[in-house]
Amino acid sequence: MLPKEQNELLTRTGPGTRMGDVTRRYWVPALLSWELPEPDCAPLRLKLLGEQLVAFRDTAGRVGIVDERCAHRCVSLFLGRNEEGGLRCVFHGWKYDVEGNCVDMPNEPAETDFKHNVHLAAYPAVDMGGIIWTYMGPKDLQPALPKFEFTQVPETQRQVTKTWEDCNWLQGLEGGIDSIHSSFLHRSITAGANRGGLAGFRAQSVSGKLDLDLTDYGYRYVSQRPLGERGDYTRLYHFVMPWTQIRASQGADGFREWKPQISGHFWVPIDDENHMVWNWTYRWDDEPFPESEWSARQPNYPGGEQIAGFRKVRNKDNNWMIDRQVQKTQNFTGIDGINTQDHAVQESMGSIVDRSHEHLGTTDKAVVTARLLLLKAIAAVGDGGDPPGVGDSYHGIRAIEHVLEPGVAWRDALLPEAYPNGARRIMEQLTEKRVK
Ligand SMILES: [Fe+2]
Repeated sequence: MLPKEQNELLTRTGPGTRMGDVTRRYWVPALLSWELPEPDCAPLRLKLLGEQLVAFRDTAGRVGIVDERCAHRCVSLFLGRNEEGGLRCVFHGWKYDVEGNCVDMPNEPAETDFKHNVHLAAYPAVDMGGIIWTYMGPKDLQPALPKFEFTQVPETQRQVTKTWEDCNWLQGLEGGIDSIHSSFLHRSITAGANRGGLAGFRAQSVSGKLDLDLTDYGYRYVSQRPLGERGDYTRLYHFVMPWTQIRASQGADGFREWKPQISGHFWVPIDDENHMVWNWTYRWDDEPFPESEWSARQPNYPGGEQIAGFRKVRNKDNNWMIDRQVQKTQNFTGIDGINTQDHAVQESMGSIVDRSHEHLGTTDKAVVTARLLLLKAIAAVGDGGDPPGVGDSYHGIRAIEHVLEPGVAWRDALLPEAYPNGARRIMEQLTEKRVK
């Protein structure tokens, strides 16, 4: 359980809130790159951390992310004309560049220089890895660029999508980093299911050993499920502050379709009662995805999820289209689609769950530790310091899963693969305090 005051602290990210001050210290995934496809294309409304914004790509191809309201009479610049190096308000013609400077004010006499005093709030933007990122924090504290490995591979080896979720961002994050839930929530119960492959391992072995090492970007987390003589099905994933999970989607040893593939999510606040779930997958070898799979625009990816304008077709207004017959005979939930199953349980808690009603157990260590790290970050930023993960220590890290033979220590087997950039970083992190 979490006291109400701490719950409030962690869940509110609007301007002037303490968690808002923390989340504004990181690069924020704002838009898919293809949403602003070309110079002078249509501007887009977007909301991030409770701030209503407009994004546009100017004539030179630069991206601007600015306050939605024109500084003159607060008209929405979503209505604006994107032309000749700026976004022009349709009410009286005031025009702004990507840095929020007012560069034209045609309704004022030419001799006044009023326009030089007018600026919109504007945030820097970076187009990297199929995502337009923005930084909404203090100018002099901009962090290292978010060079997750997936942002650095060729476009044909990467898929990135996003889905709106109707609840507070922390519910999404906590649902995702709680890896043990996949043994239940995502279980298939049809005859013959769960015999082989990863889903099978998860269903056969629903509890196991958990290990968690704090790192300077957040933590790495290992779950090991015993498979008898075969050894331990071992998954190592990462939580990167403040809202990132990196997990393996490669297939363990013995799984027929082993792939050098990793997936992840970001859970990014839209406002306190809504967030955007970013889904990404990439291959870290030099093989592209088959053409049918890599296409940059995949509104229905991952498979089975039907999306309309980034909103789920199966959503809380229609009880996620739960099918009780399917629940009796085919899968644990009666709900179609892995991501929709995740969203259903998280949204079912309400817009902002009151965590003072919880009863957490031993397998909730990942959730508890994430909360502790976020609370510590709030304290650190409140004291004028830096939160974890604003450096480059998470660049290039990988999530790994294998069936380890009996007696093989997971650190020996998995850490060199999880930190392919070298052993020095691994050793540094091994010396850090472990959470029991
Ligand atoms: Fe899940």
